Amino acid sequence: MGYSMLEYFYRTDDQELFCGREEQLAGLANALLACRPLDMHLSGLRRIGKTMLIKEFIKRQLPNPELLPVYINLEEIAETPEDFALKFISWHIYWLQGKGETLPLPYLHLPGLLWEIIDKEVREAIQPVARELEKARPDRQVLFQACFSFPSELARITGRRVLLFLDEFQEIVHLANFDQAKNVLKLLRAAKDRSHEVSWCICGSIISEMDAIARTPESPLFNQFSHLAIPPYIREDSETLIRKYLPDCDNRLIGLFHHFSAGSPFYLTHLLRRLTILGARGDDISEALIKRAFIAETLSPGGMINSYCTYLYNVSIQRAKGYGVLRSLLDNIAVSDEALNQSELARRLKMTQGAVRSNLNELVAVGLLYERERCYHYTDPVLRYWVAYVQNGIEVSEFPTGKDLLLLIDELDRKYQVTSTELGKSREETIRALMRNFRGQKVAGSFFGMQESVTLPCFTDVANFRSPNGRMEIDALGSGTERWAVEVKWKKKAVGMKELASFADLAESLADRLWYVSRAGFTTEGRKYAAERGILISEQQQLEGLIREAS
Ligand SMILES: Nc1ncnc2c1ncn2[C@@H]1O[C@H](COP(=O)(O)OP(=O)(O)O)[C@@H](O)[C@H]1O
Ligand SMILES: [Mg+2]
Repeated sequence: MGYSMLEYFYRTDDQELFCGREEQLAGLANALLACRPLDMHLSGLRRIGKTMLIKEFIKRQLPNPELLPVYINLEEIAETPEDFALKFISWHIYWLQGKGETLPLPYLHLPGLLWEIIDKEVREAIQPVARELEKARPDRQVLFQACFSFPSELARITGRRVLLFLDEFQEIVHLANFDQAKNVLKLLRAAKDRSHEVSWCICGSIISEMDAIARTPESPLFNQFSHLAIPPYIREDSETLIRKYLPDCDNRLIGLFHHFSAGSPFYLTHLLRRLTILGARGDDISEALIKRAFIAETLSPGGMINSYCTYLYNVSIQRAKGYGVLRSLLDNIAVSDEALNQSELARRLKMTQGAVRSNLNELVAVGLLYERERCYHYTDPVLRYWVAYVQNGIEVSEFPTGKDLLLLIDELDRKYQVTSTELGKSREETIRALMRNFRGQKVAGSFFGMQESVTLPCFTDVANFRSPNGRMEIDALGSGTERWAVEVKWKKKAVGMKELASFADLAESLADRLWYVSRAGFTTEGRKYAAERGILISEQQQLEGLIREAS
């Protein structure tokens, strides 16, 4: 397929750089394109590559004439109910006619839209919304109803299945602040229940808000979507991207790039670009140069990572409900060498525990911090590094050299730490999501290193588990028709008997079944031991197979 398609929507450069994510692309295809399709919920931190994944997915489905992909970013359209309604419809028409190739502008206001529409039946179909919008006081209930049933209408008229992608979907809740619009999610749910030949895919960066919409029982959209977490890049994915810029980069330097980008394809891309700006050719790349590129990108006014951190910091603080204190909390956590808990933070800020707690909760809710073993950490180590310096007035020039640079390089390893567990964290989330999709299917035993086939249980609850004294942590504990305890190791080394045994001793009393997932597989001894003790084992390939099977 030529690169000329989707020119506006998905730039040719980006198409060429796309890499990794095959597992997620397969997961999406299996769900959205199945005979009995499943609607999807994608979540992942900002800039982890959700939108790019959707773009690539749309590109790959484009040759199929039976499908009509529609992509809408709610961040751009959820300002007011009226604007939302108009643009929601407009983007459908844009995708029908402009196909991601042309500028959308002509479609995005009512006269232009009416002018652009070619098909008579389609023009008819937008009348309910157009008529309402022409009134002095549109009825918002009517507007939303007409809007949300439009995808089905379009599917009927065109005879194609609409694949509807709603990006940054959490923004929809802003509409509920308007009069006569509180029940927007309920109306969407009702329309979705009636929809025909439409696959819905919602996607968002603010994980707690997305979970509140799609995964809490109080929400009208509870349990409507099958969840797929978009994890950080693993080292192999980083390597593929690095090789597009530096074909001969050696292994150790690849590890360094991966470390500094913390699994974010966005940070990695900008590190690689900065390196090009610094004039490096393949053979002069050194550890010091990569560090220099990282520092320049993160701490200089011209750095893209710097601009992004500024944006992320401001947007998140605006979003969190709290005053002043938020900044001091972020600052204290960023500069501290040791992990800080609530009482320590309260002491440092001279505030009550209650006040500190509610502010910390806000920072967790907007996704800047997470809590582990009562201490608070940044979800993004790059942002942490940025806060520690730039928020304290330290910036460097775009081409840093000299003493300042030496000092910063010296401090870098101490100030910038990504623990491997942080990178591995989302992998566990993927497996928990997979387990939530188990519903009694019978699958080949080979997925679990077994001879005989395995009937998957139905879990009513899947979560990570931590014993009250904090001594024992289990990556996933599923309960329902059976109880499963799961350990996930996403390392390069095969898992042996010792690791299996210590997990089994730890988890045995908690579960009927033990399952060990290891990316790099198991040693021969390990396999034998697992068979004897009845532990289910899977490696990467089997896990991917299982994801396809169970979605
Ligand atoms: N699969 C990928 N391959 C190559 N680069 C990627 C990939 N995913 C993301 N990127 C880079 O990261 C940037 C941010 O990704 P994006 O999809 O916009 O993140 P999100 O939608 O999760 O916020 C992209 O513009 C691109 O430079
Ligand atoms: Mg995005």
